[in-house]
Amino acid sequence: MPAYSPGFRSLDAEHDDLSLDVDGEIPAWLSGSLVRNGPGKFEVGGRRVEHWFDGLAMLHKFRFDGGDVAYSNRFLRTETYRRAVEEGTIASQFATSGSYLDQLKSFLGDPTDNANVNVARVGGDYLALTETPRRVRFDPETLAVRGDLPADDVPGHHVTAHFQRDDRRGETVGYATEFGRTNRYRIYRVPDDPPGPGAGAERVPVASLEVERPAYLHSFALTRRYAVLVEPPFVVNPMRFLLPGSGGFIDNYRWRPERGTRFLVFDRESGELAAERRTAPFFFFHTVNAFDAEGHVVVDLVAYEDADIVENLFMSSVEGEAGRPDSGPELDAAEGELARFRVPVEEGTGTTVERRDRYTGTELPRVAPGARMDRYRFAYGQATAREGQNGLVKVNVETGEATEWWAEGHYAGEPIFVPNPDDAAVPEDRGVVLAPALDTESEQSLLVVLDGETFEELARAQVPHHIPFGFHGEFFPEVVS
Ligand code: CO
Repeated sequence: MPAYSPGFRSLDAEHDDLSLDVDGEIPAWLSGSLVRNGPGKFEVGGRRVEHWFDGLAMLHKFRFDGGDVAYSNRFLRTETYRRAVEEGTIASQFATSGSYLDQLKSFLGDPTDNANVNVARVGGDYLALTETPRRVRFDPETLAVRGDLPADDVPGHHVTAHFQRDDRRGETVGYATEFGRTNRYRIYRVPDDPPGPGAGAERVPVASLEVERPAYLHSFALTRRYAVLVEPPFVVNPMRFLLPGSGGFIDNYRWRPERGTRFLVFDRESGELAAERRTAPFFFFHTVNAFDAEGHVVVDLVAYEDADIVENLFMSSVEGEAGRPDSGPELDAAEGELARFRVPVEEGTGTTVERRDRYTGTELPRVAPGARMDRYRFAYGQATAREGQNGLVKVNVETGEATEWWAEGHYAGEPIFVPNPDDAAVPEDRGVVLAPALDTESEQSLLVVLDGETFEELARAQVPHHIPFGFHGEFFPEVVS
């Protein structure tokens, strides 16, 4: 068993506002709640889910107040959770297949609501999100489920759990892939000011594009002018979904490097496809940031040579069991490259996409909220290039200069930057970086607080048990109880 295996162990305990021991000093200005999402339970009816992405959703909340921190966690009590716990029924998900009937249902309007990937605030709603079109509302105070947002006019079967916020326009942007007789990518926006009463999170179509072989898309890029879908050649023939024995969702995708990776640049105003540029193949999950520059869009993302990373995150691989071709403790082998792509869009800028690699060995990238869609300097992410631990890194994306944080035997998760509201003049790194970490020696987790500017550790808050490795979270300054 690899040392990080507690990161893939189920957690049964739930807490409500448990005061945590703090070593060091958390800045007194830090007020609000970090809410994180991820799998909390990996066994259903005596069977283990097949992929890290398929565990039952659990929300974790760290509430900061005057230098203190309180911890709450709760399973997302959805229909999928209820069926799993009461009936021992496993839902068809990312890589775990339920029954054939279940598989069919997941494309005929009853997809799983096990929303374990991310959280977001859209309008007045706090949402737990995954890649099925379910949008599960939760109460940010109690972490209790409040039911789904209703379906609307934007069809789609595979959606993003990574919305992009545009504070200037006052809207949230997302996309969905629709499978059918024709397949389409659809970009939509959710205006902050809804057109009518009760129209809280209504999605408005922005653009769409027909595609023969849709790609697996996890996140996208937004600039002030454009929405950019980055399409790696990890594609599906959607007819496969309907074949018996086709496995989980992702098992149907194939790596086709000869297609290259496409940048699809849509004008946010007109909805037109402003540019389509092809470059050498790469795979990615996460964009970092993007902005407009001299007729180009600049897109920063974490690139992989191919889609093997998906295979490497199967439970059999992360636990180092035999049975899969690439079995072995592969978690340390994930070498994401923070890369900058300069994509020509406007006339006279050519067709060649330039790539510049900035930092090797990172994932779960974030930027300061105030740095989005502008030329910026700093990205924060996991540092994954050492064996036996995951650190954190602050990368200067202009120069490639990197400052890292490591602690022996600790596996850190997604770092989230919170700006100091009293220091708004230079918002990009004046604040703190919050990240969960698993200490493999004590088999307990903690929350690390780093200074955004120096990247030095200010404090750590001790959780009385392990927290399974999770995905994404958000800091909500307004959630103070
Ligand atoms: Co993600």
